[in-house]
Amino acid sequence: MLVTCTSAKGGVGKTTSAVHIAAILAGDNTTLLIDGDPNHSAMKWAQRGDLPFKVVDLMSAAKHTRNFEHIVFDTPARPSRDDLEALVEGCDLLIIPTTPDILSIDATLETVDLLGALNCNCYRLLLTIIPPSRRTGEQTREALAEFPLFKQSIRQYAAYEKAALGGVLVNQVKDRNARVAWSDYQRLGKEILT
Ligand SMILES: Nc1ncnc2c1ncn2[C@@H]1O[C@H](COP(=O)(O)OP(=O)(O)OP(=O)(O)O)[C@@H](O)[C@H]1O
Ligand SMILES: [Mg+2]
Repeated sequence: MLVTCTSAKGGVGKTTSAVHIAAILAGDNTTLLIDGDPNHSAMKWAQRGDLPFKVVDLMSAAKHTRNFEHIVFDTPARPSRDDLEALVEGCDLLIIPTTPDILSIDATLETVDLLGALNCNCYRLLLTIIPPSRRTGEQTREALAEFPLFKQSIRQYAAYEKAALGGVLVNQVKDRNARVAWSDYQRLGKEILT
């Protein structure tokens, strides 16, 4: 399976999601994370510590892809229309992380419009960085209810920052919410694989 994370707005959890989805898919399979962002956030994450799957730069990806069952592709924010078309063409599942604020929701609605014009039905929206107040998450879900949306949302936990800093997965950091944060991606992984 080839899974791509994209979003019209930056800082919505693409890289964090790409890293944790790659970890879930890497369970019994060989999984490669391709870092397509010139900032190299995923490569740097891996270099700071130890991730249980290989991370490579987009420029060297061609050589590696044939050896892996699953590929997760992390991309820079704000793809052009042409970029989006190419991403759609090149993946099985396009995941669009969206945070519960109006700027992110508006940006996602614009992307969804473009995807409609491209006749793409391989995308799903993922609600990310959802604060503890239940109402915020529910309101965002209601605003996007007509679109394909993962049932599982990713809640907001400081443990993710610690994971990025340490170069590890969220379940490996010392934090009282590390396990519950990881359980969000575990449940998301089940949805992706069914
Ligand atoms: N579920 C979460 N809870 C709390 N913080 C989070 C969560 N997901 C991501 N973050 C934090 O939000 C920030 C942005 O996350 P991330 O880098 O994954 O977003 P991005 O969409 O890849 O950003 P960019 O567009 O710059 O590539 C980071 O500081 C990250 O640690
Ligand atoms: Mg990123």
